[in-house]
Formats: sequence, structure tokens, C-alpha cells
Amino acid sequence: MFYRAPVSVVVRGYGPEDAEGTWEAYFRAIRDTASKDYSPEQVAAWAPETVDLVQWNERRSAAHTFVATIEGRVAGFSDVTDDGLLDMLFVHSDAGGSGVARALVGAVVAKARELGLAQLRTHASRTAMPAFKRFGFEVERANPDNWIRGENLPNYDMCLKLD
Ligand SMILES: CC(C)(COP(=O)(O)OP(=O)(O)OC[C@H]1O[C@@H](n2cnc3c(N)ncnc32)[C@H](O)[C@@H]1OP(=O)(O)O)[C@@H](O)C(=O)NCCC(=O)NCCS
Repeated sequence: MFYRAPVSVVVRGYGPEDAEGTWEAYFRAIRDTASKDYSPEQVAAWAPETVDLVQWNERRSAAHTFVATIEGRVAGFSDVTDDGLLDMLFVHSDAGGSGVARALVGAVVAKARELGLAQLRTHASRTAMPAFKRFGFEVERANPDNWIRGENLPNYDMCLKLD
């Protein structure tokens, strides 16, 4: 009989040493998982083969970024800006469906409350929209006008009210 052991997900703050692991999670999340909902051209624009890890680290450090690990390895990451945008939610394809996104969004919501924010906003991909709904976010509108490196990647503007 197949038995899938529960995995232990740890969420902590991001540090520069996480730049490579978070890029890997981003790349695999898009190339393996989001590729079911977007074309090869869209995927290639969204997750190019190469990255400048210095710039990547600067962008992750500019927001409140949280990293999820499983047995010490980066499984995913998410973030929130001071004005309430959850910009990134990416889970490595090897760790999908294990509650990593739920753990990350829990940390983001706690941070948003600590910042005194009334709501969280996100631009959810087709892939992530159903998961965001499970976390209580609501679709405000479909956004057909999202462009990355010359490719159109339609997504959804979503919002979570915080009491
Ligand atoms: C979307 C994504 C972050 C989900 O990560 P995950 O760790 O696999 O998600 P979780 O295991 O925490 O599951 C979250 C919840 O959403 C549900 N869910 C996930 N995908 C779903 C789908 N396609 N349809 C319905 N429900 C779904 C899960 O059942 C779970 O619900 P539950 O906790 O109430 O049981 C991940 O698939 C990913 O990185 N996708 C590609 C990148 C991407 O599009 N990122 C978002 C950019 S805006």
C-alpha cells in the first residue's frame, strides 16, 4: 500500500543565502507546474533560463519575504510589501500539494496584520487562483493585460480583507 508521510514545513524570514534556493523554486514552479496553464512562450518569458542573482536578492530583500523549507531545503517562498501586495507565491514542483503555499500565506497574513493592513492584494496566475480562493481571497477581476518580457500572461486581481 502506498503511504505518503506528512512533511514538516518550516517558514522563516528570507536572507541573502536563500537567493539561489528561491530562484530554483521559482523556476521549477513555473517550468513544471504553471506550464500546465500557460504556453511554452509565456513560460519562457516568465522563467528565463538565466537570472542575475544579485538583482534577484535585492528584489526579495525589498519586501517582507518568507521562505518555506522542508528538511532544510527551500521548498517555496512568498512576500508582502508595506502597502499590502502579495507579489510572489512559488512552490518548487517537488514540494507541490504538501501545504507549503498554505504555510507561506499564513505567515504573510500574520505579517500583514502586524503591519496594520486592512487588506492583502495579489495578481494570481491561472495556476494559483484556486489555491488563493482556498485561502479566502476573492477575485476582483480578470486581468487580461499582464505583460512580462513582451509576452501576455493573463491573471486575476484578488483581494483578502483582514478584520
Ligand atoms: C499555486 C501554488 C503556489 C500552490 O502551492 P502548493 O504548496 O502546492 O499549495 P498547497 O499544498 O498549500 O495547497 C493550497 C490549497 O489550494 C488547493 N489547491 C491547489 N491547487 C489547486 C487547484 N488547481 N484547484 C483547486 N484547489 C487547489 C489545495 O487543495 C489546498 O487546499 P487545502 O489546504 O484547503 O486542502 C503552486 O502550485 C505554484 O507554485 N504554482 C506555480 C507558480 C504560480 O503560479 N505562482 C503564483 C504566481 S501569482
